[in-house]
Amino acid sequence: MFDLDKLVRENVRKLVPYSSARDDYSGREGIFLDANENPYGNLNRYPDPYQKELKQAVSNFREVAEENIFLGNGSDEIIDLCFRTFCNPGKDRVLVFPPTYGMYEVSAAINDAGLIRIPLRSGFQIDLGKTMPVLETPGLKLVFICSPNNPTGNSMDPGDVETIIAAFPGIVVIDEAYIDFSSFPSFKKLISVYPNMVVMQTFSKALGIASARIGMAFTNSNIVSLFNRMKPPYNISTINQRAALNRLRRLPVLRNQLELIKSERIRLAQDLGKLSIIEEVFPSDANFLLVRAKDPDAVWSALVTERIIVRNRSKIVPGTLRITVGTRTENNKLINALRRIPI
Ligand SMILES: Cc1ncc(COP(=O)(O)O)c(C=O)c1O
Repeated sequence: MFDLDKLVRENVRKLVPYSSARDDYSGREGIFLDANENPYGNLNRYPDPYQKELKQAVSNFREVAEENIFLGNGSDEIIDLCFRTFCNPGKDRVLVFPPTYGMYEVSAAINDAGLIRIPLRSGFQIDLGKTMPVLETPGLKLVFICSPNNPTGNSMDPGDVETIIAAFPGIVVIDEAYIDFSSFPSFKKLISVYPNMVVMQTFSKALGIASARIGMAFTNSNIVSLFNRMKPPYNISTINQRAALNRLRRLPVLRNQLELIKSERIRLAQDLGKLSIIEEVFPSDANFLLVRAKDPDAVWSALVTERIIVRNRSKIVPGTLRITVGTRTENNKLINALRRIPI
């Protein structure tokens, strides 16, 4: 059975969190002589530590109650927080399904958590037969599921994902960084059903402000409270909170960009599929395409000489390159450059 108190590291459960000046007084009006700020300027004040205005906007946009929202300095901060909240260094373990987003493994190494890897089976889907018995491993605290998955681009079978969430007594993190490009619905609707689920999304992909570093976690309010206690008090700058608010105020622009990217993804996949140096274009629910090339290292180098940079993923998925969908002009330049490669 899921018992949050038992899962949390003892030092975290006992933690007396830092109390910032804005915890003691959160009003906006007044003469502020409480946080040792410079009294002059526009950016002289510390940000709202709980990002209330932004959370209201995210709540309306994603239809998730404010109490179920945590905002991090990118999803990468949320991944790290999951480790620091739940995994005792040198003792606890996490489960990942490679090939997948590399930060789960890096964060595990940083936090000295053991790693169990169950490679994706054919079609880059989770091997449920191998996974279910592993969920009972003592000390297994976290399972990371990336859907749509980076770098393969496909979504995981939602039935398999739910089977894992329902069976696992620890925390299942579903990384939905690319969900807006997918036709599958988000798992966020199931927050009230599964108290052990953390759904991560980000402002870095479809929402278009990777430079502002804002990640979202939709989860049980008790986990939100734990993350709030753990995070640095001012983890998202005022400038970045404003950038995110501005983005959410211009939803028609965002929707237009999203449609453009999705239609370019179809066109790019078709054009890539016609090239003799590309052996396979994998189906994608994300804003990138994984392709198998005849000689990925040579293709990568040839593109770099034309100042077109794609990601060589051949060490992770043999023979492959990962190509982000760009603007129509960028995609045309890529296709023309690939046509010129003499392989
Ligand atoms: C699957 C996945 N999750 C998370 C991230 C990082 O997101 P953020 O920019 O919010 O830290 C990435 C970035 O490439 C990603 O591919």
